[in-house]
Amino acid sequence: MAVNVKGRSFLTLKDFSSEEIKYFLDLACDLKQKKRSGILGDTLRGKNIVLLFEKTSTRTRCSFEVAARDEGAGVTYLDMKSSQMGKKESIEDTARVLGRFFDGIEYRGYEQSLVEDLAHFSGVPVFNGLTDVDHPTQALADMMTLLENTAKPLRRCKLAFCGDTRNNMAYALMYVCAKLGVDYLGWGPQELAPAHEVMDYCREVGSQTGASIQFSSDLKDIKGADAVYTDIWASMGEEALIPQRVALLTPYRVTEQVLAATENPDCIFLHCLPSFHDFETTMAKEQMALGYDIREVTDEVFRSPASKVFDQAENRLHTIKSVLVGCIGR
Ligand code: CP
Ligand code: NVA
Repeated sequence: MAVNVKGRSFLTLKDFSSEEIKYFLDLACDLKQKKRSGILGDTLRGKNIVLLFEKTSTRTRCSFEVAARDEGAGVTYLDMKSSQMGKKESIEDTARVLGRFFDGIEYRGYEQSLVEDLAHFSGVPVFNGLTDVDHPTQALADMMTLLENTAKPLRRCKLAFCGDTRNNMAYALMYVCAKLGVDYLGWGPQELAPAHEVMDYCREVGSQTGASIQFSSDLKDIKGADAVYTDIWASMGEEALIPQRVALLTPYRVTEQVLAATENPDCIFLHCLPSFHDFETTMAKEQMALGYDIREVTDEVFRSPASKVFDQAENRLHTIKSVLVGCIGR
């Protein structure tokens, strides 16, 4: 049966079948080729989307804006300072109002229940631009980047996520790997192991797709990985936890030794970005002055030929475009 995702919200990849996720990936590859050849579409002509950001963003915001404009849509950006949302107007009322103006709503913020409420009350498709527990548009771009860098089918690949294995990025990757049959290893301290319900869900899905979903604190288990992935150690809103995270996660920093432990010369390095890999940011400098080295990856690995992080960042544009075209395009 042909895949049809028109009118659907994109809140988590748990809501989509393997075929639907592959459809978004195929469409993203096609849209990337077309953009490279100077061909833009008009599938969103006459549509308008609104972007709601309660947390900061570079890639996600720019991807939604450029993707929408490339396909002919209008875009409005709202943040907490410049709108009534949350302070003077409930999410329910905000959603009901925005649903009268817009054909789609992107939201980045805290609780997953907020994107669910926005979808419920607005009556238009809602796109999750990151919550505390998920980052589905990023995971889609990550699978596209893995596909572009391996000759193997995804169901024969293994991805190792290093560090805070219970953050939003780790969970989004666990869901997409389980759905697509990619073996997943979370490598980190037991204190930051994935929640049991997330492991159980992914293992259940993996039992149908062939994906092995594992957690380990032992570097030996990284052997055979096709992609080593990491993320910052304290996600947005968790900055007070930095001292504790540095203590727990320093042994799990991605170094050349970690890449070597894959025993796979073709293994790539992935990162959703932004990354602390040197001391060129105010935050990395300030924390170092307090005695905390917050680099989750060495500069050597980040800048190595194995690192595909900027291709990955570009793929945010193409995958977000595929989600917009698929869900609200003509
Ligand atoms: N990876 C990612 O979501 O980047 P931004 O925070 O810049 O949107
Ligand atoms: N885990 C990170 C991802 C940023 C794209 C955060 O939530 O800050």
